[in-house]
Amino acid sequence: MLTTGPRGTRDILPEASGHWQYIEDSARKVCHTYGYSEIRTPIFEHTDLFLRGIGETTDIVEKEMYTFTDRGNRSVTLRPENTAAVVRSFLEHKLYAGPQPVKLFYLGPMFRYDRPQAGRYRQFHQFGIEAIGAVGPTIDAEVIALAVQFLRQLGLSDLTLYINSVGCPQCRPVYRTELQGFLTDKLSHLCGDCQSRFDRNPMRILDCKNSSCTVHTQGAPQIADCLCDECGSHFIRLKTLLTAAHIEFILNPRLVRGLDYYTKTAFEIQYAPLGAQSAVCGGGRYDGLIAECGGQATPGIGFAIGMERVLLALEKQGLLPKSTTDIDIFIAPLGEHAQATAFRLLCQLRQSGLAADMDFMNRSLKAQMKYANKIHATYVLVLGGNELEQQSAKLKQMETGEQIAIPLDDRCEEAFDNIAISHVFQNTLQEEA
Ligand code: HAM
Repeated sequence: MLTTGPRGTRDILPEASGHWQYIEDSARKVCHTYGYSEIRTPIFEHTDLFLRGIGETTDIVEKEMYTFTDRGNRSVTLRPENTAAVVRSFLEHKLYAGPQPVKLFYLGPMFRYDRPQAGRYRQFHQFGIEAIGAVGPTIDAEVIALAVQFLRQLGLSDLTLYINSVGCPQCRPVYRTELQGFLTDKLSHLCGDCQSRFDRNPMRILDCKNSSCTVHTQGAPQIADCLCDECGSHFIRLKTLLTAAHIEFILNPRLVRGLDYYTKTAFEIQYAPLGAQSAVCGGGRYDGLIAECGGQATPGIGFAIGMERVLLALEKQGLLPKSTTDIDIFIAPLGEHAQATAFRLLCQLRQSGLAADMDFMNRSLKAQMKYANKIHATYVLVLGGNELEQQSAKLKQMETGEQIAIPLDDRCEEAFDNIAISHVFQNTLQEEA
């Protein structure tokens, strides 16, 4: 127990953290270009927020929440998703009083007590956005466009965008009744979960992956035929906007999504090679959620992307960048006296803004050079008795073998500053190339 993490959790080790930073930076960049600002909400919230927000009959609330009573006897829950928390924060801090729409993004861990498997974890990470305050379908198109651009810019292909409209409290009950009518004589063929969904949440039956449920729901009435005028025209306009922006989509009348707050637009982006956990992104409109949480009726739409799934997809396509923890200068001291000088120089190098390291293991020169190679040091500075005596050492460029003399007295600071400047210059040239 002490040497194994809890089931469904994973450590992000140094060699993988570069990949995480890469996709997090990409998320931040794309959000910047769309005008979304970062919001960070707590990891846990009052349990009631999720009961009300996500819906008491959803799988998340019924089976998957990490809920506990704290020492003050309050029920709190590790956030299973972040939309409800963002809405809570929007209301608490009166963000509705500022310019509209309020466009927010977040990155961080979520927690669901799910059956762990590849692509499904108990602690996982989402990149999500929420656009609150705009009622028309243009913002729906923007939200979808942002998700698609983020995934495409990472280089992913084989992505499929599915869209549907799940209607609103006005037209959904009509559809519900029609669907229940269709399912009544098929109930005994459905799985246990779907039988219990029949009364409470029949639309979720369409989304069930159980093969018997899929077979027996073939030919079910489609919500598109029951949408009220407003939902119908919203959906038509969204499709026109996506088409005009060359964002390909497939209509999926069975796309329902597992959270109760959705109204009108619902969408998912699938990356088929991931198999059972192919949904990399899920989102939709939630025009009733803010009122449900105690605010004035305010529309909203957003999505969340599963970061682990994106990483799996990038790995599958060989698109992960090489991790680089490269060191600019490695100092190799020989002997105790040289170590003290090395440490003084190390501090100066770092103050000049160079990534520098030295030997801390009393290794032989050969072993130190081997280590410098391993950490991809650009330069090595060897400090032995001779160098200390002459107050001058050779800075060796590992790739070319070229050597530069470095004074070890007060003038070393200037030498290091010059190296730092030329280093920054070289990096800029490389970035531009
Ligand atoms: P969701 O569909 O529950 O939606 O989750 C969004 C994405 O998070 C999924 O498509 C998947 O990539 C990832 N995900 C979900 N559960 C797990 C898990 N156990 N392990 C790994 N990845 C997982 C929401 O969370 C909504 N809050 C999205 C939203 C934002 N709707 C409107 N605004």
